[in-house]
Amino acid sequence: MIITSVRASKEYAVHTGSGLLASSGKIMREVCPKALKLLIVSETNVAKRYLAAVKDSAQAEGFEVYEYIFRAGESSKNIDSIAGMWGVMAKAGFTRTDLVAGLGGGVTTDMAGFAAASFLRGIDVVQIPTSLLAMVDAAVGGKTGIDLPEGKNQVGAFWQPSAVIEDTDCLLTLPDEVFAEGMGEVLKYAFIMDLSLYDILKENERTGINIKNDAWLMEKIVGMCVADKADVIMSDEFDNGRRQTLNFGHTVGHVIERNSDFTKPHGICVAKGMGIISDAAVAAGTLPSDEASKIKDLISSYGLPVEDEITAEEAVSGAMNDKKKRGNTLSVIVVNKIGSSEIVKMSPEEFLTFISGALG
Ligand SMILES: NC(=O)c1ccc[n+]([C@@H]2O[C@H](COP(=O)([O-])OP(=O)(O)OC[C@H]3O[C@@H](n4cnc5c(N)ncnc54)[C@H](O)[C@@H]3O)[C@@H](O)[C@H]2O)c1
Ligand SMILES: [Zn+2]
Repeated sequence: MIITSVRASKEYAVHTGSGLLASSGKIMREVCPKALKLLIVSETNVAKRYLAAVKDSAQAEGFEVYEYIFRAGESSKNIDSIAGMWGVMAKAGFTRTDLVAGLGGGVTTDMAGFAAASFLRGIDVVQIPTSLLAMVDAAVGGKTGIDLPEGKNQVGAFWQPSAVIEDTDCLLTLPDEVFAEGMGEVLKYAFIMDLSLYDILKENERTGINIKNDAWLMEKIVGMCVADKADVIMSDEFDNGRRQTLNFGHTVGHVIERNSDFTKPHGICVAKGMGIISDAAVAAGTLPSDEASKIKDLISSYGLPVEDEITAEEAVSGAMNDKKKRGNTLSVIVVNKIGSSEIVKMSPEEFLTFISGALG
């Protein structure tokens, strides 16, 4: 097992390893010694596989367990689900010392975190991510929230968990395409900040080991990503600077995702975005072309695409509509060599010139 400590506005541990669901109750008890009641938030796909293990483990520690199970999928990530969670807690008489647990992918952990952040002005949450994307990204770092019809993640709060429990065995039941999507975010950490992760991913590709079925390797890779995310959070919890480097591939990726009406999965779009930005950086002379080839080859070797038919004009207008832009400038994340990245501020005109290098 790997334990990563995160020291942000709250200090907490991320436990990563095989078989951890069975200890989830014990970990929740350690961080919330006074809690009497526990609301487990989960969804249909995950609950049928993993709810019983968490529930049993929590009951063994004396928690009075309540459940809120929603229909799996991004379309449930809305205020109705949150209101349902508030309702269960209010009816059961939850107090400020009680606890919420999010058991599922990023949709679940984002919503469990937001329900906890808002109920009684904030109660504790423990995150128990079950997808690769949630383990390496969504469940760590305290961004919580829901979507509006007008856009994704439009309402939310920064609310750090009290602990994160990542049982890597859960990844074995993840559908291949959902696993591949999570790999998009794993690759992102390698490119922006972690050369040794790149080496491991490269080596694995060369030897052809199926990482998903290699418990030791999976734990190591997830642990490295968590350590990378923790490092970023600790230097910029509220996303005013360095945390933006986690958006590598996302500026263009989000536009591709939105233009497809969210029919193209997030991780696929991010992979395309990373490929396109890398090509643009080569044209701009800030990334050597052999490094860009290494980036794109690795993405492809994990079954993800590096190109898209989006035009430079569409990329610019879409990016200017994205909520993450500040004022009239875009923060574009560029990798200068594998393992190191920077935030470059660009006007729409500068971004058009830059991105035309790849999409022109
Ligand atoms: N808070 C953050 O910092 C942050 C960061 C990145 C993404 N996100 C959010 O995360 C969400 C995407 O996360 P996701 O890809 O995990 O989506 P998700 O929660 O919808 O899970 C993806 C799919 O995998 C299934 N699943 C999850 N775990 C499983 C398991 N162990 N076995 C079988 N099936 C399983 C789910 O039922 C779902 O069908 C988005 O809403 C995004 O906005 C948040
Ligand atoms: Zn992402």
